[in-house]
Amino acid sequence: MTQDMSPIEKAKFVAAQRSVQYVEDGMKVGLGTGSTAAMMVKCLADRVREEGLNIQAVPTSTRTADLARRLGIKVITLDQARWLDVTIDGADEFDSNLNLIKGGGGAHLQEKIVATASDQMVVIADAAKSVETLGAFPLPVEILAFGGETTKALIEETLVGMDVLGREVTQRMKGDTPFLSDEGNHILDLHLNRIGDARQLSLMLNQIPGVVENGLFIDICDVVVIGHGDGKIELRDLHAGTITEETAAPGESDNLFSDI
Ligand code: A5P
Repeated sequence: MTQDMSPIEKAKFVAAQRSVQYVEDGMKVGLGTGSTAAMMVKCLADRVREEGLNIQAVPTSTRTADLARRLGIKVITLDQARWLDVTIDGADEFDSNLNLIKGGGGAHLQEKIVATASDQMVVIADAAKSVETLGAFPLPVEILAFGGETTKALIEETLVGMDVLGREVTQRMKGDTPFLSDEGNHILDLHLNRIGDARQLSLMLNQIPGVVENGLFIDICDVVVIGHGDGKIELRDLHAGTITEETAAPGESDNLFSDI
């Protein structure tokens, strides 16, 4: 199957495939959202089916919930789980401290709640998501629809005092209407190019009335599994302080994309 994939798909796949080894029998597992996370859900479902792995999963979006149920993974709510052993999710960017930008798929609110309620957050990404400084990827900010223009103006004003290289703020659209998150909120994308102080920006944004949550994940991620197009996998573990390299195991599922 992997010979039919583009290098970027293969990179995502090998990271997804490796990441499910962090899941053990009996665990409660947070399931992320996005194309890499969808591959991970499929790999996890393979383990459930083939090894009889007994897990309960908390998805971070309706998309992921639908996929997990369809593939036979037991889905529960975060309130039922209360606390999770591990969450595995994608990212739009990560830096050397494993701080992230997330929300390219508009699910960062649930993703942040679920990851924060987990003993460990494992991020899966292709190598192109690795950056020296966050900010080339537009930063998603979920806001209430009520007073959206006022919230946008307050964000623009806040950005004037921030260490960023760009300050354009755009409303995310789906066709002719605003994109709606699973909670029915709007998303603004902040085109900052470079974020000098991500921690400060995250705190400032979340103080603005009308802002529900921004897509900066600071001190939440523990491990990044980085996939490469040639099958190489790099594991960066922040707490262990280790960077290890592996090569993807052969024999992956032949029908990876057939049911996702
Ligand atoms: C979803 O809201 C996002 O946070 C995704 O996790 C992120 O955009 C990565 O998505 P891909 O795996 O599709 O690149």
